[in-house]
Amino acid sequence: MKVAILPDLAAIAAVAADRFEQLLTRDPEAVLGLATGSSPLPLYGELVARQQAGRISFSRARAFTLDEYVGLPADHPQAYRSVIHRDFTDQVDFAAGAVQGPDGNAPDLGAEAARYDAAIREAGGIDLQILGIGADGHLAFNEPGGSLASRTHVGVLTQRTRRDNARFFDGDVDAVPTHCLTQGLGTIMEARGLVLIATGANKATAVHEMLEGGVSALWPATLIQFHPDALVLLDEDAAAELTLADYYREVWESASGLD
Ligand code: GLP
Repeated sequence: MKVAILPDLAAIAAVAADRFEQLLTRDPEAVLGLATGSSPLPLYGELVARQQAGRISFSRARAFTLDEYVGLPADHPQAYRSVIHRDFTDQVDFAAGAVQGPDGNAPDLGAEAARYDAAIREAGGIDLQILGIGADGHLAFNEPGGSLASRTHVGVLTQRTRRDNARFFDGDVDAVPTHCLTQGLGTIMEARGLVLIATGANKATAVHEMLEGGVSALWPATLIQFHPDALVLLDEDAAAELTLADYYREVWESASGLD
């Protein structure tokens, strides 16, 4: 794992966008993994700016999103399909149909989950996956207590996640769906590279557990300790509970410019 504790959101966005730029320069047909949530928004803003400046293009790339609520109408503003188009993909030059997400309204959700996993595999797998982390340590919508080897599946959201996400539903926790379709932890771990962004004090405990706790279903994000190419980008608030913060800073500073 590489861990960077950076001064602000702009610095986080720049480092993450560099990874995307390097990948798209090397392979314009790269397969990208996209996350919804507020954590990746500065990165998406930076990617939009770099595309508009002609530094990168998504015209030959493809993308898969991580997860989706079950049962929200497809055109609901908080359906993750709408969110990712609005926040990012409609602002850059992806080809029509190049961005896919699981269908939370499929008549057979189990079959849809299997189809989505297969679609990722058929695309050759995800080259670079952007991730946020839930305050309870979830990745995508893999809540505590699930299998660390899961594939895309139907999940049940915890009360805490529903409360956290109520801010997107006018503060009404009852309006937040109870179920989701999510890439599994096993699916996410197959991405060839991970870039996880966590900012803000409410992520500090989850970040400490993720990087320094024992790998456990209680904190699903701890699984990334097993990933061979995971880059974790933090602000000072999210890094506040890290035991090895000074060491991560030293390693990051001594490695900068090496790759
Ligand atoms: C949501 C999403 C996750 C996201 C997390 C954190 O529940 N399913 O993919 O990482 O919450 O969101 P935010 O970045 O807004 O804090």
